[in-house]
Order: sequence, then C-alpha cells, then structure tokens
Amino acid sequence: MKDKMTWEETIKYIRTQPAFKDLVEKAYFEEDLLLNVERFKHSEEFIETLQFLKQYQPNAKNILDIGSGNGISSVALALEGYNVVAIEPDSSDTIGAGAIRKLKVHYNLPNLEVFEAFAEELQLSDENFDIVYARQCMHHAYDLEKFVAEASRVIKKNGLFITIRDHVIFDKKDREWFLENHPLQKYYGGENAFTPTEYKAAIQKAGLKVEKEIKYFDNVINYFPSTKNEVLNMFQMAKYKAILHLNKKIGVLSKIPFLQEMYFKKIGLTKESVYDEKKVPGRMYSYLCIKK
Ligand SMILES: C[S@@+](CC[C@H](N)C(=O)[O-])C[C@H]1O[C@@H](n2cnc3c(N)ncnc32)[C@H](O)[C@@H]1O
Repeated sequence: MKDKMTWEETIKYIRTQPAFKDLVEKAYFEEDLLLNVERFKHSEEFIETLQFLKQYQPNAKNILDIGSGNGISSVALALEGYNVVAIEPDSSDTIGAGAIRKLKVHYNLPNLEVFEAFAEELQLSDENFDIVYARQCMHHAYDLEKFVAEASRVIKKNGLFITIRDHVIFDKKDREWFLENHPLQKYYGGENAFTPTEYKAAIQKAGLKVEKEIKYFDNVINYFPSTKNEVLNMFQMAKYKAILHLNKKIGVLSKIPFLQEMYFKKIGLTKESVYDEKKVPGRMYSYLCIKK
C-alpha cells in the first residue's frame, strides 16, 4: 500500500469524514462545484480581491489564473466579465481542470479557457495578460524563481501580478511547525512554504516591483475564513476572557479597571500579543506586484 494519497484522493477522503466538514466547506472543496463558486463569489476575500484588481488595473481585460484548482476563482473572474485563462496541472474532475471545464459549460463562459500545465512551463506568448492571479498556488512552485519568471514573462508592461494567500515561514523550525499543523499534510504530503525574503527575491529577479506586501493580519484575503469583524474583535474577546479568569481568582474586585490593567500586564496581554502572526502556523501573505 502506498503511504500517501494524491491530492484528489485526499479531497475525496475528507469529504467522507465528519471531522473535516468545516474545512471542506471553508476551503471550497464540496462535491457540488456550483456551490463552491457561488460561495467564493460572495466571500469577503473575493470582494476585496476585486477591489485590488480595479484599483491597480482599472482597464484590465485579460487575466491568467495560475493553479486554478476546481475553478472557483477562474469562474468568478469570468463571471465578472474578464477574459480568463485558467492554468491547472491536475486534470481531475474533482479539484482540477476537469472541474473547471464542467463549470465553463454550466455557466456558458466563452471567455474562459482551460489549459493543463505547470506555472514553470507556461506555453503562452509574452506580454499577453493585464493581470496574472495566483491563489494559494505560488507556495506549491517546484521552482519558485521559474514560477515567478514565467508569470512575469506573460504579463504586459505595467501589468499586475497578484498572489493571494501563500504560506509564509520564517525559518526551518517554523516550517516544521507549519507542516506538523497542516490538517492535510499527513495524507498527501504536498504542502510547502517559503520565507517572505524568498518570495520577494524571486519577484524582484523576475522584473516585478512589489507594490504591496499584505501580511497575515493586514487583510481578510489572508485570514479568511475568519471575518473582518472576528479579527477586529479579537483583542476585546481576549480581554473579556482574561477578566473571566480574574473573576474566578478575586471575585467582584475583577470589575475594577486598574486591577484589570495590572492583570493584563501580568499575563502579557497586549494588542501585539493578540495580533501576533508568529502564533499562526504557516500564516498566509499576499503580494501585489507591477511589471516594470
Ligand atoms: C491549494 S490549491 C489552490 C487552488 C485554487 N487556486 C484555489 O484557490 O482554490 C493549489 C493548486 O495549485 C496547483 N499547482 C501545484 N503546483 C503547481 C505549479 N507548479 N504550477 C501551477 N499550479 C500548481 C495544484 O494542482 C492545485 O490545484
């Protein structure tokens, strides 16, 4: 028996496991492909992404979506009226090019083309796209420099390279911690991550300028499925929980603001400690880059 499943086998397996119900829903891995698209289209993440596209490339028409998976973003972008080329190396009907082709037929999208390829080996002509978009894909590059160089090659001058939700690690130990904590790594073993320095070096080497490095807590596009409100309220919630603890120790005295502040100090509860991306394994970053 082989010790690991393929990515497709992993997704099919977790769909049968009640423990993964939430992950399947939040990661848009449902068997119902239309449901995934409809939920993604209305997500805070996609709405925010569209704002970035409009802000940085208001006249864009052609988008390349690299590593499009089951097609949620390719279809959502095509439904917005963009001409979309989806590139996906996996051919499956579950989480690959086959799924995107099914969606293309369902939504009747002549403005969506699907090719099976790796980003490092794009069979596309130079300077063809206003935008190259890659969601949760760049960290899967088998050759990061080549991946970004190919993306850059096919972007028009002054065009946009937008990478969304790539896992970031800070050192070897942090990488191990990320892999240990990734819920699907033990099944398929295909997870990966790079340091911000490695991402930015590859981007710059490819002739792109990083306009915006969006760190984990900077934007909902990274911390989704947590919502903006949940993240905004995190500090208040942490203080509330600490006060409950304090109440168990000193009763009604826990209502005195001065004692609360002393207690927060004692347990190291600050805004920085709550919004500390180092506490999130493989926290995600996004990059907005312009071709020079
Ligand atoms: C985490 S999934 C993200 C899928 C989709 N973009 C999404 O957000 O739902 C990563 C995808 O990248 C694809 N992939 C892996 N290595 C790749 C590479 N070198 N070039 C292009 N795509 C790749 C995988 O087949 C997979 O579909």
